[in-house]
Amino acid sequence: MAHDEPAASGAPAKLAIKNIGLMLSGDIGKPILDADAILAFLHGWSDRPRAVLDERPLAGAASRGADVFARECERCHGPQGTGGLFMHIGNVDLLSTASNGYLRYAIRKGRPGTAMPAFAQSAGGLLTDAQVDAIVTGIRTRWGKQGGAGALQNPPPYSASAAGNAAHGAEVFATYCSTCHGAGGKGNASASSIVDPAYLSLVSDQDLRTTVIAGRADIGSPNLCGDVAGKCMTAQEVTDVVAWLASQRVETPGQPYPNAAPGGPEKSGATK
Ligand code: HEC
Ligand code: HEC
Repeated sequence: MAHDEPAASGAPAKLAIKNIGLMLSGDIGKPILDADAILAFLHGWSDRPRAVLDERPLAGAASRGADVFARECERCHGPQGTGGLFMHIGNVDLLSTASNGYLRYAIRKGRPGTAMPAFAQSAGGLLTDAQVDAIVTGIRTRWGKQGGAGALQNPPPYSASAAGNAAHGAEVFATYCSTCHGAGGKGNASASSIVDPAYLSLVSDQDLRTTVIAGRADIGSPNLCGDVAGKCMTAQEVTDVVAWLASQRVETPGQPYPNAAPGGPEKSGATK
């Protein structure tokens, strides 16, 4: 099945270049020159590349996948997939939304403009396609419920197919999010600011989208059906609220890479 490529990061050019620098500095143990990531990023400026996703069924042994995950992924995503100041890949709602193709794509190509490295050998990484397959099997086996209890039944598409309307997104935010996040997202007693430039510089638009769809139960941000009782957000509302959040990015955030950059699993929710 062919899908549109996941939306490329909307981070401003400078930030993405800094992030590529971070990847070049050898995040996965050896210096990587990630030409694919740089290209994907450059394409992100103009027209997004449209890739055919690799939607083969699960392949490879979950136990092997868990071993590779422990070696390559755990330091950012945590042993239970619940690490980091970004969407948790161990989240059952995320896994009911993201197809095998999207997971493979993120692992192979990384997320240009963020700390997520590209792991495919063709992108300068260390993992074979068989290892990536096994990781995806391991992730689904351990943390996915495949439509069972806890998983969203009819989630909106994982990736937005068109640009959102930021002005409408501001209204969506007022309806679904401001009770907790305060007017304009600047935070209040129950939740801190999510329009903080330092936070927005660390995550891609796709990560904001998956956070809105799947929520972050661990820190108290509900999934798209939990913001307002009895009312799930529509796919368009999700796209628009993300466009609004993304429109709050600035070119030079005060602290582009605080020490707590998406790193230690222990740091989850600790700073922002
Ligand atoms: C029931 C309260 C509640 C509602 C409603 C809510 N959130 Fe949250 N959200 C939280 C809390 C609590 C946090 C953790 C904030 C903190 O660290 O102080 C959070 C964190 C976040 C984060 C940061 C996630 C991360 O990985 O660090 C984003 C992005 C976010 N919310 C977006 C939204 C959006 C968009 C909406 C509306 C569609 C929304 N939230 C609705 C409570 C809520
Ligand atoms: C250096 C830290 C780091 C390492 C190592 C890392 N990741 Fe990530 N990963 C991230 C960050 C940061 C994001 C969020 C990127 C964004 O903002 O879109 C992410 C996002 C992802 C996503 C997309 C989740 C979503 O919301 O759709 C997947 C899948 C993923 N990582 C899998 C892996 C796997 C598997 C490994 C090991 C092979 C790995 N990651 C290693 C930092 C890391």
